[in-house]
Amino acid sequence: MQLLDGKKTAEDIKAEIAIEVQKMITNAEKVPHLAAVIVGNDGASLTYVGSKVKACQRVGFESTLVKMPSTTSETELLKKIKELNEDNAIDGFIVQLPLPVQIDEQKVLMAIDPSKDVDGFHPENFGKMALDMTTFIPATPFGILELLERYGVETQGKHTVVIGRSHIVGRPMSILMGRKGFPGNSTVTLTHSYTKNIAQITTQADIIITALGVPNYLKAEMVKDGAVVIDVGITRVSDDTKEKGYRITGDVDFDNVSKKASFITPVPGGVGPMTIAMLMKNTLLAREMKRD
Ligand code: GUN
Repeated sequence: MQLLDGKKTAEDIKAEIAIEVQKMITNAEKVPHLAAVIVGNDGASLTYVGSKVKACQRVGFESTLVKMPSTTSETELLKKIKELNEDNAIDGFIVQLPLPVQIDEQKVLMAIDPSKDVDGFHPENFGKMALDMTTFIPATPFGILELLERYGVETQGKHTVVIGRSHIVGRPMSILMGRKGFPGNSTVTLTHSYTKNIAQITTQADIIITALGVPNYLKAEMVKDGAVVIDVGITRVSDDTKEKGYRITGDVDFDNVSKKASFITPVPGGVGPMTIAMLMKNTLLAREMKRD
């Protein structure tokens, strides 16, 4: 079994991006500037956004954190998005999800200028992705593709089973694994809460990508020998032995599944850090697309 080390790979990617930023500085060019909008006080969301800002500092990007209260109305958030769309200093921005209940997520995502949509969640960018056109690929699926590529994991002609059909991970992942090219050329099954006999499907899989958020969901008996297992789950589980009072748990029963897998991502240190590195990559791309 080989560990797909997302932490180290993400560091490599950020080091590569930092070199590109240095070149921009040497050429007296503007460096990429990412803004992140967070509405409310959800602990996990605040942590993720904090990590994104920290990553900007690491690679040499400028960053702006926009914090809005949980009582923010949809109109107020749409006004802020309009400001960011029109602000030439900002190359790309994200609105951290989930949003409070009074705000319509789809309306918000559609208000983002597609050329600044470094999350790749706007329908125009999602459509381009599905049509193999150059665009921003959502950071988590993009990070998984990058991990598979850098570790030389064969995807062509393989059966990939994706568990979970979220707009952020499962759905785009299922499209990307089936696209022409590498990593891709895979035969994809997208499973979800209405799928019957899921173990019968997962035991046929060469590659399993779980994006459910249910700790220890994927058990060894659901996996065939030699499968590649990608765990996107990051659930906080209370743990009094930890300083923060919780630990992060993936969707995969790692201790047992890792005995059967050929490649597997750990949690933490697998897909999570890759997501952040690929957001940096998309922000660099947003900046480069503005240059002539
Ligand atoms: N919430 C969970 N993952 C993500 C992500 O990749 N981007 C944004 N904006 N919100 C998220």
